[in-house]
This record gives sequence, C-alpha cells and structure tokens, in this order.
Amino acid sequence: MKISIKNVTKYYDKKVLDDISIDIDGYSAVAIIGLSGCGKSTLLRLISGIEFPQGGEIHINDWKSTKETKREYQNQLGFVFQKHNLFPHLTLKQNITVILEKVKGQSKEEAEARAEELLNMLHLHDEMDKKPAKVSGGQAQRASIARALSTKPSLLIMDEPTASLDPILTHEVLMEIKHLKSMGKDFIFVTHELNFVKNFADYVIFIDEGKIAEHGETNILNNPSTDKLKAFMKNVSYD
Ligand SMILES: Nc1ncnc2c1ncn2[C@@H]1O[C@H](COP(=O)(O)OP(=O)(O)OP(=O)(O)O)[C@@H](O)[C@H]1O
Ligand SMILES: [Mg+2]
Repeated sequence: MKISIKNVTKYYDKKVLDDISIDIDGYSAVAIIGLSGCGKSTLLRLISGIEFPQGGEIHINDWKSTKETKREYQNQLGFVFQKHNLFPHLTLKQNITVILEKVKGQSKEEAEARAEELLNMLHLHDEMDKKPAKVSGGQAQRASIARALSTKPSLLIMDEPTASLDPILTHEVLMEIKHLKSMGKDFIFVTHELNFVKNFADYVIFIDEGKIAEHGETNILNNPSTDKLKAFMKNVSYD
C-alpha cells in the first residue's frame, strides 16, 4: 500500500494536526500510535475521507478523497470503529445484507450468501440471526469487521478495534485481523495494544501533539531514536 500525506493541517477550535507529511510505500499494516488526544483518530478520519483537512493533501494508493470523489474513495475502504456501529434493530446478517443490497445493488440471495460466508469466516455462524444487543462485545466487533469486509475493500481502516473488549475478546479479534492480513488485506489502524503493533504492524507512525514525532519500520519501538518515543515506550510498556 502507498500512503502519501503532504503538509496536512487540521484545526477544530485549535490546531489538532500541524503540517503533517509522510510518504511510505510497500507496507501492508501501518499502525498509528501516540498518547490520548494527540490526533490519531483525527488523522484516521482524514485518511478515511470522512473529514477534510484545511490544508494539504492525502493520497492512498493514488486515490484522493475530495468532496466530489468521497463516495467512490470510501467504496475502496472498509471501516471498523472503536465502538461497533452496527444498526441495533437489524440482525448481524441483516447488518451486512442491507449494505450489499442498498449500496452495491446486489440481489437478496447474493447478499445473503456473501453475508453468511463472511459471518462463518468470523466464527459467527450461530449468531447471525441475533441483534447486536444479544451478542457479546467481541462478537459484535467481529460482525463489524465482517461488515467492513463485505464490499471487498483491499484496505481496512480501524480505530481501536479492540478498545471496548476484555483481554480474551481482544485476543480473538486480533487473531482475526492477523488472519485477514495473511489473506492479503492492507491495514491502517490505531491501537493502544503495543504488543499487537509489535507483532502485526510493518510500519509505525508515532504522533505527539499533532505532529509526527517519529516513524519507521516497527523495530523503532524497540530502539526509538527520539526522546519522545523513548518516553512513550517507557510509560506504556509493561514488559
Ligand atoms: N470534532 C472535534 N471538534 C473539536 N475538537 C476535536 C474534534 N475531534 C477531535 N478534537 C480534538 O482534537 C484533539 C485530538 O483528538 P483525537 O480524537 O484525534 O485524539 P486521539 O489521539 O484519537 O485520542 P484517543 O487516544 O483518546 O482516542 C483532541 O484535543 C480533541 O479534543
Ligand atoms: Mg482516538
């Protein structure tokens, strides 16, 4: 995957991302890490084309999101958010078929076959006819991964996909994500699970107060060159 971010600046009431630039090519799992409030989710929203920067440009695999191309751009991506955003009144299966029928124009049969295939792959065979409130947090999160995959995106964007899960469910979801990587999907993701970053990410972007303080192949976590990343690793590592 190719990520090119040029002089991106994002303000809300204050500056959140301050003239960020990075060019990377050839990595399939890119992690964005940093302290709470540093701007990770904001950067992910810009990369997702959900919001736009006030300055600068973002290209992912030569795709660029503008107000005109937003829909086309987003069709190439799958999203998984911190809290699953499944429709509460629909079953897990219907959460997927509704997208395939309405957005992709698939027939009911086609959409159901695809939904079942994905839910089976994520070990949700027995849960597919339940509504989100009737399944565990990990199952709901796996269903949102299934939904993100339903449109066959090559790139998944995930913001703390395990944040609401206990350690066992976290493990379960992370194993699924690893499996998807082995199937050739690309990922840009935010997580606080540094052990997962260490054994899953190929590349790490460390953000500090709205700037990229350090970036490089994942090994930088074991051998940081900036004081900021050194301090971050010292404060968050327990191993
Ligand atoms: N829609 C918004 N309106 C105003 N301020 C915002 C908005 N979204 C984010 N911010 C501010 O931007 C800063 C960065 O927020 P962001 O959500 O990107 O942080 P984060 O690194 O994802 O943090 P966390 O690890 O806690 O999720 C914060 O100070 C936040 O208050
Ligand atoms: Mg966040």
